Amino acid sequence: MTSFSDEYSDYYDLLYDNKNYAGEAAYVNTLIQNEGVSDNRLLEIGSGTGNYGAFLSSLGYQITAIEKSPSMGGIAQQKNISNYEVIISDVLDVNLEPESFGAVVAMFHVICYLTSDIDIKLCFDKIYKALLPGGVFIFDTWHTQAVLHQKPEVRYRIVENSAISLTRNATPICYNEQSLVEVNYDINGLRKNTGEKFSFSEKHLLRHFSIAQIKHFAEQAGFEHLRSEEFLTGNTPGTGTWGVCHILKKV
Ligand SMILES: C[S@@+](CC[C@H](N)C(=O)[O-])C[C@H]1O[C@@H](n2cnc3c(N)ncnc32)[C@H](O)[C@@H]1O
Repeated sequence: MTSFSDEYSDYYDLLYDNKNYAGEAAYVNTLIQNEGVSDNRLLEIGSGTGNYGAFLSSLGYQITAIEKSPSMGGIAQQKNISNYEVIISDVLDVNLEPESFGAVVAMFHVICYLTSDIDIKLCFDKIYKALLPGGVFIFDTWHTQAVLHQKPEVRYRIVENSAISLTRNATPICYNEQSLVEVNYDINGLRKNTGEKFSFSEKHLLRHFSIAQIKHFAEQAGFEHLRSEEFLTGNTPGTGTWGVCHILKKV
């Protein structure tokens, strides 16, 4: 079963209409600027429907976006974001010009979709090469300490707009030995104008990481691991911190 299928992509922006992309993009911008990065060329991996891109572009970045799902990337293209080019590709397959970006970002758990050590190493090596010296790689992941402590639960989300109402059930299966969680999404929708009901499912496999593991992958690729902090607050991650943001530098 494909993740981020055409159907799921169509409803992605509605499902996340309460996510504070403006605030998150401002946070990412601050992290980049605090490291003294002056080159405005930014590579965004797993750029989805362009929600980060729209705000990062308005903050002055020239963005190259890499998105594996053609339907997610297609929605971003239709938004005609300024200074924003989408390449539809798996990050593992893309060719990148060496030393051509001041910053690389992969936001909203994109790196969690790389579930094997080999794929993470390949991705980090590519990013390292694509960055200018002094450039930063910023990404957020699920945090193993919190996942094991809190344990993923079934979650429900109900959203609607004038045309559609949707219910999404997310049922997790944990594979703690492999640091993996399979999330099974079941989506049920209603088209308000016709009364037509529809449903579809998709499976997402995500890996969670300890900070020590991220440090290991970072250093293996040549990065300096500057820090890992609670996403958005900058606090020290603990058992209550599901989302951790990692800041790596090419020295
Ligand atoms: C949770 S979404 C986040 C999208 C976007 N960054 C946002 O914040 O809305 C994860 C995205 O990563 C993309 N993705 C996952 N693995 C990828 C890979 N190997 N290469 C490129 N994109 C990938 C998915 O297709 C999906 O669009």
